[in-house]
Amino acid sequence: MKMNWCYIAILIVILLLGTLIEGKKNRLRGTKWWTLANTAPQENTLLNPNTVLYINPSLQPLTRKQRRLVTRNAGTILAIAKGARMAIQECKYQFNSRRWNCPTSDDSHGTSVFGKILQKGCRETAFIYSITSAAVSHAVARACAEGIIYTCTCDLKRHFPSGRDWEWGGCSDNAQFGHKFSRDFVDVVEKGRDLRYMMNRHNNEAGRMHVSTEMTRECKCHGMSGSCTVKTCWMRLPTFRKVGNYLKDRFDGSTRIYQGNSGRGRTRGKKFNILPVNPNHKSPEIKDLVYFEDSPSFCNPEPAIGFHGTMGRECNATSIGVDGCDLMCCGRGHTSKSYMAKERCSCTFHWCCKVHCEICTRTKMRHTCL
Ligand SMILES: *[C@@H]1O[C@H](CO)[C@@H](O)[C@H](O)[C@H]1NC(C)=O
Repeated sequence: MKMNWCYIAILIVILLLGTLIEGKKNRLRGTKWWTLANTAPQENTLLNPNTVLYINPSLQPLTRKQRRLVTRNAGTILAIAKGARMAIQECKYQFNSRRWNCPTSDDSHGTSVFGKILQKGCRETAFIYSITSAAVSHAVARACAEGIIYTCTCDLKRHFPSGRDWEWGGCSDNAQFGHKFSRDFVDVVEKGRDLRYMMNRHNNEAGRMHVSTEMTRECKCHGMSGSCTVKTCWMRLPTFRKVGNYLKDRFDGSTRIYQGNSGRGRTRGKKFNILPVNPNHKSPEIKDLVYFEDSPSFCNPEPAIGFHGTMGRECNATSIGVDGCDLMCCGRGHTSKSYMAKERCSCTFHWCCKVHCEICTRTKMRHTCL
């Protein structure tokens, strides 16, 4: 009888461990859709009906729930692949002159395009989650308006009354559909009660909010010979560069958080709350990025997160900012090499409308960290 209880206890422990490990695996499995960025862009094939041969992005890197969602909303896979590309490109642009420069791997067999930094809870992790979920929102909302997705169209709702000299018309980007789809698709794996789950969910939503609340009105005049007697307007998404800029600002001002007891602080839909570690800071707002772990210095190679360090990185010898050689090379010093660069110069404008330039060769310096 005693033995039996022992066996049962061991069995329960094994089962618990199993679900824990499974949960961790699933979470990263849920970010495998980022590898869709490696599939060929589809725009050209869609615009050019003569192209018969094209490779449809595979559903293979998706979880079962994600597959179901994508299958139910035919066409979304193209938008998701485009979103993955946009997110990676924007992340690299925004972090171009930082020590951590958003390194990615093309290895589509690996669990994650952005590497093991996802297993951390630092500010960079927060940015990756926010920019990728924002990108899905953005790409899907746009694709709705472009007629690529079967289950959505332009947003035809009038958001507020027409003005005195214009009326609603045209095709608005479907931010609402994009937001909801991204939430269902991206957040599907973020299940649990731990701080990492709260952090990821919060940052995912922060990313999406920067897309859906920054729409602007665009208008077109339809009157005779361009006169504006008849004007129609529609809502357009912000450019993804703008979204990237906003999120980079949020990254710089991100809030370190810890898991509060329920009942204190602000709850956000679900039954959990996150509180700022610094009691003098206000609770993070919906658009703020949050993290709970310090970032590494990113000076030296960090094998644990697959970061190679700043050795060999180009730096700016005259800047005192993060792109400057002092900070970028972490005091290790740098080498300078001159090289010849070809540039356009002495450009002249010819009426109308041509610009003629000459090609000059100039000596430039390239500085790289030791
Ligand atoms: C280097 O930094 C200086 C000062 O911040 C700036 O004016 C210059 O444009 C930078 N050079 C490059 C190549 O970015």
